[in-house]
Amino acid sequence: MKKIRATITAIGKYTPERILNNFDLEKMVDTSDEWIRSRTGIFERHIAAKGEASSDMASSAFRDMQKRFNVDPKEIDAIVVATITPDMFFPSTAALIQHNIGAVNAWGFDISAACSGFIYAMVIATQFVESGRYKKVLVAGSDTMSTITDYSNRDTCILFGDAASVVLVEPSEDDEHGVIDYLTKMDGSGKDFLYMAGGGSRNPASHDTIDKGMHYIYQEGRSVFKFAVSKMAEISLEVLERNSLTSADVGLFIPHQANKRIIDSCVNRLKLDEKQVMINIEKYANTTAATIPLGIVDSYDQGRLKKGDLLLISAFGGGFTWGSMLMRWSL
Ligand code: ACO
Repeated sequence: MKKIRATITAIGKYTPERILNNFDLEKMVDTSDEWIRSRTGIFERHIAAKGEASSDMASSAFRDMQKRFNVDPKEIDAIVVATITPDMFFPSTAALIQHNIGAVNAWGFDISAACSGFIYAMVIATQFVESGRYKKVLVAGSDTMSTITDYSNRDTCILFGDAASVVLVEPSEDDEHGVIDYLTKMDGSGKDFLYMAGGGSRNPASHDTIDKGMHYIYQEGRSVFKFAVSKMAEISLEVLERNSLTSADVGLFIPHQANKRIIDSCVNRLKLDEKQVMINIEKYANTTAATIPLGIVDSYDQGRLKKGDLLLISAFGGGFTWGSMLMRWSL
């Protein structure tokens, strides 16, 4: 039987209206625009309105997708949401999005893989489609990082922003376009370097967890940096090599946007030219599961991603988790 190939057939994005730039942060903590730009490449980030949650942002991204492409929510079979900032523990963000957008025939669930979430979710969607069981799978990367960020801590508050982006995964009409290969990895010993300790079953929410700031992101930046640089480059090369491809074959590389220095170092190791790399961290900061699909939409809008291009996406995040996916772009 002929193998079904999965491909992205529609895309959409949403960023909240409010923008917080480095000069605003200078007034909040002991930092400077110069430090933030030179150490991270970030200038501004979007911040959700009070009460605006991850399901709202992903639903807005879906409406943007509907404006761009003719997508009928009733035809969606499944919704896979990558997020570490769900509206609540349950019901899932996927259920809330399903209701918001009227995807009445879809089932779905959330997955938690931090910054690698979009790639993990794409792997699930790809397998759903390749199995022949599902025809239209909506993948969302949506994170309201401002809700778990301590804006009195300069180590983390400069790094994150809020956004959502969605893609639709369907069977490809031909053999040429669509997902070619992927690799996903995890190393749980990374749990000590990047986490949010409060509110779960180990440290249920209490006055004590709040007083200790355990409902905020904790990160040992330097350790995460070292892992991110080596693992993201390694996995990208591995996925290229096992498909007998080299960096020269890559049309566009869209890495997770956590820090421009991490991206630059990864790009050097991969021996990619800057024309082959999408960097938009200066506008959005690290939006966790949303960075890669946001990069896809921006590249497409800017004419940097054209039908037939070889697209490589790679991410590294909390867990630790990391992954890479290779596809022939079909839009
Ligand atoms: N403004 C000014 N100075 C600062 C700031 C700030 N916002 N933050 C730290 N500093 C100071 C430090 O106190 C330190 O001062 P010292 O030398 O006097 O001790 C100095 O700047 C250097 O600090 P470092 O922590 O060594 O800075 P570094 O160059 O490592 O940059 C950063 C920190 C930006 C956090 C970097 O380590 C990083 O990007 N790490 C990886 C982030 C990442 O990839 N996360 C994974 C994804 S997130 C997810 O999965 C949810």
